[in-house]
Amino acid sequence: MIETVNLTKIFGQNLIAVNNLNLEVQTGTIYGFLGPNGSGKTTTIRLLLGMISPSAGDVRVFGEKMTADSSELRRRIGYLPTNPRLMPRMTPITYLDFVGKLFGLTKSQRTSRLSKLIRSVDLLPSASREIKDFSTGMVTRLGLAAALINDPDLLFLDEPTAGLDPNGRKSTLNLIEGLDVEKTIFVSSHILGDIDRICTHVGIISEGRLIYSGSIKEMKKHIKTNVLRLELDGDMNIFIEKARALQSVINIEQRGNFALDISIDPDASALVVLQEIIGLVSECSLDLISINSSNSSIEDAFLKLLEEEEARGFLRAIEP
Ligand SMILES: Nc1ncnc2c1ncn2[C@@H]1O[C@H](COP(=O)(O)OP(=O)(O)OP(=O)(O)O)[C@@H](O)[C@H]1O
Ligand SMILES: [Mg+2]
Repeated sequence: MIETVNLTKIFGQNLIAVNNLNLEVQTGTIYGFLGPNGSGKTTTIRLLLGMISPSAGDVRVFGEKMTADSSELRRRIGYLPTNPRLMPRMTPITYLDFVGKLFGLTKSQRTSRLSKLIRSVDLLPSASREIKDFSTGMVTRLGLAAALINDPDLLFLDEPTAGLDPNGRKSTLNLIEGLDVEKTIFVSSHILGDIDRICTHVGIISEGRLIYSGSIKEMKKHIKTNVLRLELDGDMNIFIEKARALQSVINIEQRGNFALDISIDPDASALVVLQEIIGLVSECSLDLISINSSNSSIEDAFLKLLEEEEARGFLRAIEP
């Protein structure tokens, strides 16, 4: 559905916003595009839409080259920008009708889609109110409805949960998840939990570079470590020193005054490690307040990938 080859965008003299990106998004997937602020997500989406032209490389969508002139391709695409600014004096009804007209829909097509969409984004009670009085969540939902008015095969959502409270986030994610399974959805976010919840595949971008692309499952497997969180009472210094010396302990991080996160070699026997650690707790005369285990979350996996990439970037920088 989407393919980029060495896609690059340089702003001004030397700001490389998108760096040699090779992306592939299969039809029917919900593809999460994950990266911190300023990593190049919005720039990539604008390139994929043909809104800006690449400095180098190509974009193909629906198997065809995307350029500024590809309005026929864009007819089959929906786009929700981050915090969309919609006409303040219009109402959901007049706004959706207006967007439908831009797509060349007939009056009867517009009317039937409009009423369905307004209902599906839960704006029926406010269908005739002016947009200027809407909350961020309502504007996002209306923006989503507008992005769907042409019944697109491909949908770009640029941080659809930006600025929403937990409830707004949940309902927006539910909406996206509930969309027609035939649609291909490309959704950017810096919120890992959101991507983890609704996406099947993920691309991670850092400083314009794609540092991971693949299924979320594979990503978690790729970087699997187990973490034990211990809450302890007493002087932890000797314990930390001794625990670090254990063969199956990969890393220890202190979390506040009482907690430690101990990363365990995923190949080691959890039971043996646990026994060793608990043995050390009593040896160091500490009180064990609580112990929790968790597989590494997508968040840890993401941060770890970023750290690895940063370390590589550092090595690149010092290479002669
Ligand atoms: N039109 C522009 N002119 C110059 N620089 C730009 C332009 N658009 C983006 N940039 C720069 O390109 C880089 C990537 O920006 P981009 O908006 O794509 O990031 P992002 O991942 O969407 O960030 P955020 O999470 O904050 O939305 C940034 O350094 C930004 O300052
Ligand atoms: Mg952005």
